[in-house]
Amino acid sequence: MSADPAKGDDFRGPRHVAIIMDGNGRWAQARGRPRLFGHHAGARRVREVVEACPSLGVKYLTIFAFSTENWKRTQVEVAGLMSLFRRYISREAKALDARGVRVRFIGDRVRLDDKLIALMDHLEKLTEQNDSVHLTIALNYGGRDEVARATKRLAQDVADHKLLPQDVDEETLPRYLDTCVLPDPDLVVRTSGEARISNFLLWQSAYAEYEFIDTLWPDFTAEELARLCGSYGDRDRRFGAVKT
Ligand code: IPE
Ligand code: IPE
Ligand code: MG
Repeated sequence: MSADPAKGDDFRGPRHVAIIMDGNGRWAQARGRPRLFGHHAGARRVREVVEACPSLGVKYLTIFAFSTENWKRTQVEVAGLMSLFRRYISREAKALDARGVRVRFIGDRVRLDDKLIALMDHLEKLTEQNDSVHLTIALNYGGRDEVARATKRLAQDVADHKLLPQDVDEETLPRYLDTCVLPDPDLVVRTSGEARISNFLLWQSAYAEYEFIDTLWPDFTAEELARLCGSYGDRDRRFGAVKT
């Protein structure tokens, strides 16, 4: 088992957990309800998971809410999700701030509507002094899109003579990613039984541990997160080296 976070140095749990919150549609389908019913149920799970983080020693929680590929869904589902995000941010802002949660958004904002962008900006600003948990919400996020946007900015800096091509190394690109201020995830969890990463945190997850679990996201609980953090502590992370 991982050590108690209160014990400091002995702590072996993940500091940064990233979650692909999948299975809302199947959860609703199993109940004979529309997919959006599942998305609403899924959104309600987020609070419990965020609240569980401090006692588990999880300082950073990153959640995948909407991918760059999710625009391929029906107009009804996409519009319903966008409306859910607006409602979620408006309703949860106060409680998140009161709990000392710092909220950030990653992903490309250009396709999002102005009202949603304004709410996202407001929540980021409102919580910018907080430090209990760093919650990052990936919205219109795609790992490939993020790397492409980062490369574009990096190339512009080269064109502007702010950066020399020979100075570009693996420390350089992450400074241009949406996640530039975040540590890499230690543990990536995907719910719903699918064993793929669907374009999530491609660069950042190079050495993450993965957990693919069958639970559908609306059924995910703080207890399950605690169990996953516990088994993470038992893993032997070698980062390519051989332990002597
Ligand atoms: C995850 O649940 C939420 C989003 C992708 C927005 P899904 O909507 O993908 O649910 P399933 O995979 O169809 O069950
Ligand atoms: C990944 O789930 C995106 C989010 C959880 C937001 P999807 O349901 O969109 O992924 P695929 O289609 O199963 O790969
Ligand atoms: Mg899915």
